[in-house]
Amino acid sequence: MHEGSAASSLYARAEHAARTIRSRTALDPQIAVVLGSGLGGFADEFDESVRIPYADIPGFAASTVAGHAGSLVIGKVGSVPVVAMQGRVHSYEGYSLEEVTFPIRTFKLLGIGTLLLTNAAGGINVQLSEGTLMIISDHLNLIGVNPLRGPNDERFGPRFPDMTEVYSRVLQETVVEEASALGIEVRRGIYAALSGPSYETPAEIHMLRSFGADAIGMSTVPEAIVARHMGMNVLGISCITNMAAGISDGPINHEEVMEIGNRVRSTFTQLLRRVIGRLK
Ligand code: HPA
Repeated sequence: MHEGSAASSLYARAEHAARTIRSRTALDPQIAVVLGSGLGGFADEFDESVRIPYADIPGFAASTVAGHAGSLVIGKVGSVPVVAMQGRVHSYEGYSLEEVTFPIRTFKLLGIGTLLLTNAAGGINVQLSEGTLMIISDHLNLIGVNPLRGPNDERFGPRFPDMTEVYSRVLQETVVEEASALGIEVRRGIYAALSGPSYETPAEIHMLRSFGADAIGMSTVPEAIVARHMGMNVLGISCITNMAAGISDGPINHEEVMEIGNRVRSTFTQLLRRVIGRLK
């Protein structure tokens, strides 16, 4: 539970969290990165870094999942100050979407204008394979609830925010250009989010394919919606860690998801560094 009364507004609680973070660093990042399953290692390479466990930030929920360290790392990527989440919380852990997206609210009040969301995802489109990086071009919110449900605070954004371009086309192009300069293959596709935690059945994947989904996961979409509500520029990158149920034989497990995340670590890190260098 956050400090202060339960009645204090989401905005006031996010301001409190932002003040706490500001008191721990002299850096003033404009870019935030959320690191998904197996991808947290990126933040270990920051220069001049400060690590703040989520438990020290009022309102930040603790991650209960292996592969999600549960700390905020603020540091420099080259000359660019960045704040990164090493691990996120998900609705399947029992958290509300307000709790899941609370760090994104906090980032906005810290002055962050650009949000890079990463995740591990299952490939539905057969042109994807294990280890492919997929730029998210759009999403399907199939979690069953919208993170903006409930009273709207106009200081964050409008009641009915537009979602025509959740993932910035300019940022997508930047990734394509930088990947091509590095000789890294990237694809573009639609990410569908279900609540999890069970992986999907082959019948569900079949349905999602007919819906136009290229990849499937259990995160990212609530954060992207909340970020767009507040007018942030959003980029999403999925690391395809397995082919979805029924697309390839064999069961899916979290260990495999994390192992592939580790395997793409150096490619992923190089790409993120270059993209961040372009954003300053
Ligand atoms: N389904 C849902 N979430 C996932 C998957 C998957 O196959 N792989 C990694 N995250």
